[in-house]
Amino acid sequence: MTTNSAPTTALTHIAQLVTNDPSLGEGPLGLIQDAAVVIDGDRIAWVGPSGKAPATDNAVDAGGRAVIPGFVDSHSHLVFAGDRTEEFNARMSGRPYSAGGIRTTVAATRAAGDDVLRANVARYLAEGLRQGTTTQETKSGYGLTVEDEARALRIAAEQTDEVTFLGAHIVPPDHADDPAGYVDLVTGPMLDACAPHARWVDVFCEKGAFDGDQARAILTAGAAKGLVPRVHANQLGHGPGVQLAVELGAASADHCTHLTDADVDALAGSETVATLLPGAEFSTRATWPDARRLLDAGATVALSTDCNPGSSFTSSMPFCIALAVRDMGMTPDEAVWSATAGGARALRRTDVGRITPGARADLALLDAPSHVHLAYRPGVPLVSAVWHKGVLV
Ligand code: NIG
Ligand code: FE
Repeated sequence: MTTNSAPTTALTHIAQLVTNDPSLGEGPLGLIQDAAVVIDGDRIAWVGPSGKAPATDNAVDAGGRAVIPGFVDSHSHLVFAGDRTEEFNARMSGRPYSAGGIRTTVAATRAAGDDVLRANVARYLAEGLRQGTTTQETKSGYGLTVEDEARALRIAAEQTDEVTFLGAHIVPPDHADDPAGYVDLVTGPMLDACAPHARWVDVFCEKGAFDGDQARAILTAGAAKGLVPRVHANQLGHGPGVQLAVELGAASADHCTHLTDADVDALAGSETVATLLPGAEFSTRATWPDARRLLDAGATVALSTDCNPGSSFTSSMPFCIALAVRDMGMTPDEAVWSATAGGARALRRTDVGRITPGARADLALLDAPSHVHLAYRPGVPLVSAVWHKGVLV
């Protein structure tokens, strides 16, 4: 099977293939047993029973192992310098997490050269890729000046297509006495400088960060410049973030840890994805978000790492899957769906998060007979090979 100059590759004898296409296999995961996948260039060309795979230039025998779509990590903060080991240590000795820790990373990031930031983004993208993440969103938010935010987004955009402007992460110390002036900066000159480098606009809508009115002003201004809203909502306590996200048609409301029944109903009745970030609750010893409640209400749930040096310094989607199953009421099937197809929904992508003809050839081969092992064998590096855009990495 050769449709153009790129060699075709078949992965055969896949014990269990997660396609996330119910028309191709069983259940919401579209599971196929003893399956094969054909990759042509950067795309999936064919999916079906192993015995019926068409002839290809190359073949890889999956030998009884499982294959899943590459993870879609729809929420991270990779453009930063330094780390916050001391803060983590203090927290594990009882100090609570607060939004204020962000300032430490802002100072370190402003002081860092472009090369340091660029290398950090590359490092964490590579770390994620080794663990199966083939689509990675990332944000600004540790610059908080016009120049530093634009620089962060430029550097992020060199390495990923999914870039989010988060100038409204916190009010920086230099504007502590004038939060309204900072909102004017974010919605004015900062947005003008940043919008060309980003696809999304985000706000940390939380006590200690931005209130509902400020968040509305920032998200609305971003939308007027063509950026689609997503919101850090209801992480540390109840608040207006989720309702605002739904009202503004945001692609996702992220964290969703503290929800009222009205918040759950709003998400369930909307296209806004509830993105849960269990690494943050793990690393801040906080209450787990209740995925079961959201799923039972009919909301679409995504899982993501939130990789950042303060509240969740993990790039591991398998770790997040294990936490979501153990502590947030998700079944292994639901968690795998949320970490792949759910992330794609949160990024409004149809070309990733599924293994179906025409989709991007992003796949992870597991050293396990089933995707369930991602939760069943926590902490074990089961991702043994990754294809990204058709290339074995
Ligand atoms: O998603 N909540 C806001 N932002 C990050 C934390 C950033 C930090 O602590 O540096 C989060 O958890
Ligand atoms: Fe975050």
